[in-house]
Amino acid sequence: MQIVKTIKEVREITGAWRKNGYTVGLVPTMGYLHEGHGSLISRAVSENDRTVVSIFVNPIQFGPSEDLESYPRDIEKDSAFCESLGADLIFNPEPAEMYHEGFSTYVDMDILTKELCGITRPMHFRGVCTVVIKLFHIVQPYRAYFGQKDAQQLAIIRHMVDDLNMDIEIKGCPIVREADGLAKSSRNTYLSAAERKAALCLSRAVQCGSDMVKNGETDSVKVVGAMKEIIEAEPLAEIDYVKAVNGLTMQQTDLIEAPALTAMAVYIGKTRLIDNFAVK
Ligand code: PAJ
Repeated sequence: MQIVKTIKEVREITGAWRKNGYTVGLVPTMGYLHEGHGSLISRAVSENDRTVVSIFVNPIQFGPSEDLESYPRDIEKDSAFCESLGADLIFNPEPAEMYHEGFSTYVDMDILTKELCGITRPMHFRGVCTVVIKLFHIVQPYRAYFGQKDAQQLAIIRHMVDDLNMDIEIKGCPIVREADGLAKSSRNTYLSAAERKAALCLSRAVQCGSDMVKNGETDSVKVVGAMKEIIEAEPLAEIDYVKAVNGLTMQQTDLIEAPALTAMAVYIGKTRLIDNFAVK
């Protein structure tokens, strides 16, 4: 496995692979990898001849008061993890490699990016779409892998690829959880022991909501209400949002029916965590 820091090197390596007729899978990440990322990497390795993992804490998707500086980083551990899973190349650029002086072109999307996380993080998805399209142009993958953990992000990437006629297969992968249910996240490392316990209210709410829907409840007021009750009972938790939306348009829905997404963002202390369940 190779680790490279420049766009030129990635182009040379992946260009040679494509010339040989190899399919290339891309897993975009911000690093500090865990088994959630690992599931995407393993799937890419199993479905493609070559797998590229990008590790880049993308500055333009963080708001001014967010955790860009403190976002956890450990490239050595990440490299060993990627290698153990069979990845072929890590692209780990510096910010200046991705955003040269005078950079001023962004991918902006209406509607989907303005709901859910887009309300609290108004510039976030513009930063995500821009870096993802750049990574697509740099690596030119055949397939790219994203987690259902960030369900709104996945829907936005699918929509962008469709809107802009990009010839890339987008693969969505299920949420990987800790043994006690908490969705794995690089940001879980911010949690104190007490907060780690409190954070379980998210997965408990998801479990409760998805059980209600499995048992035939479709009224979003009832399902979201029951989920909110669980979170509000946790003193360390503060709800940003809990909402049922159409999973394709992100517009609020009264009935939780396919393709619905019930999603939440909750502050546990200062740490903002997300979780969701989809009805397919
Ligand atoms: P990051 O948070 O590092 O996540 C990278 C990918 O891993 C995303 O597609 C995310 O949905 C997936 N992922 C994270 N935790 C997961 C879990 N518990 N189960 C399944 N998949 C999980 O998302 C980003 O980075 C960035 O926004 C990025 C797309 C790389 C653009 O900068």
